[in-house]
Parts: sequence; C-alpha cells; structure tokens
Amino acid sequence: MDEGRFSVSAQFRVAPLFCRPWTLNGISPRLIESHYEHNYGAALTRLNAVTRELEGIDFGIATPQAIGRLKREQIDLLNSTLLHELYFASLGGDGRTLPEVIANAITRDFRSVSHWRQEFIALAEALAGDAGWILLTYVPRDCRLINQSASDHTQSIAGGIPILALDMYEHAYHIEYGPNTTAYIAAFMRNIDWASVEARYNDAVKVAPPRPLQQSEFKDVPSITAEEVQGMLASGQPVQIIDTRPRHYSTRAQDIVDGAVWRDPERLDEWIGTLSKEAPVVTFCVYGFHIGCQSAAALKAAGFDARYMAGGHYAWKAIKGPVKLFE
Ligand SMILES: [Fe+2]
Repeated sequence: MDEGRFSVSAQFRVAPLFCRPWTLNGISPRLIESHYEHNYGAALTRLNAVTRELEGIDFGIATPQAIGRLKREQIDLLNSTLLHELYFASLGGDGRTLPEVIANAITRDFRSVSHWRQEFIALAEALAGDAGWILLTYVPRDCRLINQSASDHTQSIAGGIPILALDMYEHAYHIEYGPNTTAYIAAFMRNIDWASVEARYNDAVKVAPPRPLQQSEFKDVPSITAEEVQGMLASGQPVQIIDTRPRHYSTRAQDIVDGAVWRDPERLDEWIGTLSKEAPVVTFCVYGFHIGCQSAAALKAAGFDARYMAGGHYAWKAIKGPVKLFE
C-alpha cells in the first residue's frame, strides 16, 4: 500500500500495541487495554492538540508564559507517548532468556546480568508510591548502557536511546496490584521481551557518538587524553610532561599540572636538549588548540615519542587532576 495514500496531516501517529496482551504472565489484557487506550492514547491525543495549538499561535502576540506552558506540555506529552510505546514494546517475553549480544553488553556495563537486575529493581522500588519511569538507556557518547530513574516524562538522558522501559505510574498497575508495587515490578521483570531489547540495542549502537573536536591542522600529531595522562602518572609509568602555555599566559597562571614542568614554547630550541628520548613526552597548552600541538609536532619531528594532551590545562582541571602552585 502506498504509505502516503491515507496521510492525515503532519501529526504524531498512533503506534499499534507492540506486545500481545493475551501472552503476558500476570499482567492482564484488561490492564494493558486500559493503559494503552486511556493513558497512552490520551497522551497522544493531547500531544496532537497541543501541537496544533502551537502551530496556530501568533508568536508576536502570545505571552511568553503561554508559549512556555505549551512547549513544556508538548515535550511532556511527546515523551509520555514515546516511553509508553517503549513500555509496551518491552513486554512479551519470558524475562529470563537474554540473547548473547545484550547479555554481553549488560555484563560489560553492570558487571553481571544479576547485578543489573538488582539495580534496575532497586530503582523501581525507590520510585514506588511516586510516579515515573525506570529506563535502560544506551548512551552513544560513551558507547555504554546506564539504568536511569525518571520522576516524570521529561527526564530522559540527552542523546540517550532508551531500550527498555518500566512504567511506574500508578495507572500501570493499580487496577490489578493495588499498592503492591513489588508484585507489579516482579511481573514486569518476568515479561521482559529480551529479543526486542536486543534488537533495539543493535539499532542504538549504530548511532554515532557526538562529533569530537577535529583539529585537521594537527591530524598527524598524536594526542592523549587527560585521563590517560593521569593513568600514566598513577601507574608510575615514566613520562615527561611539559606545560607549554605561552609566556604571556603563564605569567598570570596560578597553578600547573602536578608532575609537569613549564617551558617557554618560543624557546623550544633551548630546552629540547634536556628531554630524554627514553620516555614519552606529553605537551599541552591552555585549551589544547595550538601551542601544545605545535610543540608536540616539533618534538615528534626531532625524534621524540611526543604527543599533545587534548583539551590542555583546562581538560586536566575539569577532571580534577592534581595541580600545584605555579611559581
Ligand atoms: Fe503509563
């Protein structure tokens, strides 16, 4: 069928119920039907109403308060819609059998599947009596999974991709479990559809991390992260750390990386002879854009195992690397 044939304007569309309610164990079709129709459906309907209202707004006349309220409401309803769809798509399995890929990913990021399970359930228990969501989310920035608790619809991780959702709003369980959230959480856990969670994980890992800083002019100069330098120092690995912040900057600098020596980048010829070729050299400047890279490039050209510390002095400060008074 032509997908656009029955197109009904640019609105948010209903997603068919993903799980098969009659197959669930301890969660009745009645509960799912009510949840899908009255809560998911209401969020979607209201989302479209608010969106239409926003589309018709005259931004030159409307008050900032009215615009702010509508936009907040729209985001709240959109997230409620998305998370409900994920919730229904999280159910329908036996909760026990984790396929290999998702089992390995969870073990990598949570030590073990049982540790993940403990944490996920503990987060849900902590939300009992309140409203919100418990999510297993993939974070492309760090290529890892994290459990999160959200006390409303809008607390999703920026750039994160939730792949499993537990609805902790009262409407998700009350007609069947009353206040017994422990029984509801257990029922959710034994209905997780791990095959679909794994499929969503496989989709999520294809999302590229946010673009890193590109320094094309120094693409041939090796770099090292502040965390790696910290690791080298902590492990006692020999390394020569040279602070090459410009003289005009260093005269007003108050601190210096503990373990580094300052050298004037404009007088590299005078101090290059004091360096050893037996141990790696790390140079850095204030933010990591120019001087530290140029110094590393010059040292590399002279035959040293040299690299620049990405992000410079401030990356070191940002990770709370130890500093000492700059005298
Ligand atoms: Fe819900």
